[in-house]
Amino acid sequence: MELKTYIETHRERFINELLELLKIPSVSADRKFEADVLKTAQYLHDSLEKAGVDQVEICPTAGYPIIYAQKIIDDSLPTVLVYGHYDVQPADPYELWDSPPFEPVIKDEKIYARGACDDKGQMYMHIKAFEAMVATDSLYCNVKFMIEGEEEVGSNNLDTFVKANKERLGADVILISDTSMISLDTPSITVGLRGLSYVQVEVTGPNRDLHSGVYGGAVANPINTLCAMIASLHDDKGAITVPGFYDNVAELSAEEREALNRAPFDIDEYKKDLDIDDVSGEEGYTTVERTGIRPTLDVNGIWGGYTGEGAKTVLPSKAYAKISMRLVPNQNSDRITDLFQKHFEAIAPKSVKVKVMPFHGGEAAVTPTTSTAYAAASAAFEEAWGVLPIPTRDGGSIPIVALFKEELGLDTLLMGFGLDSDAIHSPNEHYGIFNYMKGIETITLFHKHYKSQM
Ligand code: BES
Ligand code: MN
Ligand code: MN
Repeated sequence: MELKTYIETHRERFINELLELLKIPSVSADRKFEADVLKTAQYLHDSLEKAGVDQVEICPTAGYPIIYAQKIIDDSLPTVLVYGHYDVQPADPYELWDSPPFEPVIKDEKIYARGACDDKGQMYMHIKAFEAMVATDSLYCNVKFMIEGEEEVGSNNLDTFVKANKERLGADVILISDTSMISLDTPSITVGLRGLSYVQVEVTGPNRDLHSGVYGGAVANPINTLCAMIASLHDDKGAITVPGFYDNVAELSAEEREALNRAPFDIDEYKKDLDIDDVSGEEGYTTVERTGIRPTLDVNGIWGGYTGEGAKTVLPSKAYAKISMRLVPNQNSDRITDLFQKHFEAIAPKSVKVKVMPFHGGEAAVTPTTSTAYAAASAAFEEAWGVLPIPTRDGGSIPIVALFKEELGLDTLLMGFGLDSDAIHSPNEHYGIFNYMKGIETITLFHKHYKSQM
């Protein structure tokens, strides 16, 4: 049977298997789901086995296991190492979902479930593409799989695994589907990702919660203080005020910026999709640039004091915030964390004490548009979608791309099939069945073109 016919013939089953995978709540951030995360690893182990790998192993780590699998058909052929993640973000707040996050439903040709796009749907396409190539006797390249269960919590144990398995992970390219494309009319290949520095801050005022009448006005309120400190982290042009923050930021040439802005982008659609009357950000940059090539500082959560029902008059002892900084090439996440910490301590008034706790971080990545893998992906998109894809930079982070380059010396090809409107990390995450099926086909074509161009 022809490859394309095989994919069409097995469409229903390919979709159903993904639905089964989506029913397992593999939330890595919450220990409550530990058994489910492990069950997901087993599900993928079995799927890979059935798809026809020669070797598959659930490799333990200090955290959740990494699934490694391979099929080596000929040492003289190129080897593609597929990376993906089987863990998902927490589904909270559950009440904002139109249907339960772990009971996938199909509506308007889209699958609604946590992880539908990020990354179970996109990762599983590679297993199905592999199955189709094996079943039709058309596996073009050697294939290895490395699928982890801790991406959404910072990939803390991947580093050790990669260092300990350098030989086994030997490949010519790393292939990842965990990003988005511009639109169904304009497929794209991601060539840049932002880095990340994530911290939690704690501001302490008095040693205990106080009566806000008895003490209010005379003792620093840590929530008021924290808000003022956070507000001062941007100037009136939307630039970040942490000294040294922009020191190493790679500036793009006028031509590069122009090329970036040539990609189709409809600001009115963008605003309409988000129900906002205006966008907001650093002066002098377009929306595409603000998310693609400029660093950011955002509060992800803020709390303290009384947030229960009704009113309680309290001057709280403590206030907290979680802050993420998205980084661009040449910024270093450890250095940025350090600069932030020093600045945040420096701007704190004497009336409070502050603590900065660094969480995970990771470096930005830029991948080449001149590689064989890029050319193969470009040809694959052209063949499957009828148009040449455009290179784009995504605002999200996949810190392991920089790690792979450093440890394995390998470039990554980011062949994402999600859409920005898929609501990843949000309620009602979904993934188009068209993207899923077309993606499977495109992946097989990547393998074909990669082999013939090597
Ligand atoms: N798949 C995303 C990253 C992504 C999404 C890149 C869309 C480009 C476009 C990934 O699962 C993710 O969410 N990464 C985290 C960072 C991680 C260290 C927790 C992120 O970007 O917040
Ligand atoms: Mn992801
Ligand atoms: Mn994610």
